[in-house]
Amino acid sequence: MSNWTDVAAEADLFEGAGIAVEPEGQDIVLFSVDGEVFATDNQCTHGLAKLCDGFVEGPYVECPFHQGRFDVRTGACVGGPVTEPVKSWPVKVEGGRVWLDLD
Ligand code: FES
Repeated sequence: MSNWTDVAAEADLFEGAGIAVEPEGQDIVLFSVDGEVFATDNQCTHGLAKLCDGFVEGPYVECPFHQGRFDVRTGACVGGPVTEPVKSWPVKVEGGRVWLDLD
């Protein structure tokens, strides 16, 4: 089963920073990388920092607290003190809107 939910306008996204969305009470951040949209949990797996406040470079986001790095395409941790990936959410872009499968 899937639960595709409209969370944002594609035009609201931009490269170099994440934007937070909260569909159905979830805390998720959207990233635009080379014209593709990706979504992960917004909460860092190392502490209480939000990845929407992180520094984005290419497909990587660096946590603003201790510089843990995640690959926004997969949620994998790729550097710093983080040891657990962030959850990655399925994304589709249709009709100028960004949709997440919240199942
Ligand atoms: Fe994100 Fe420590 S809270 S790296």
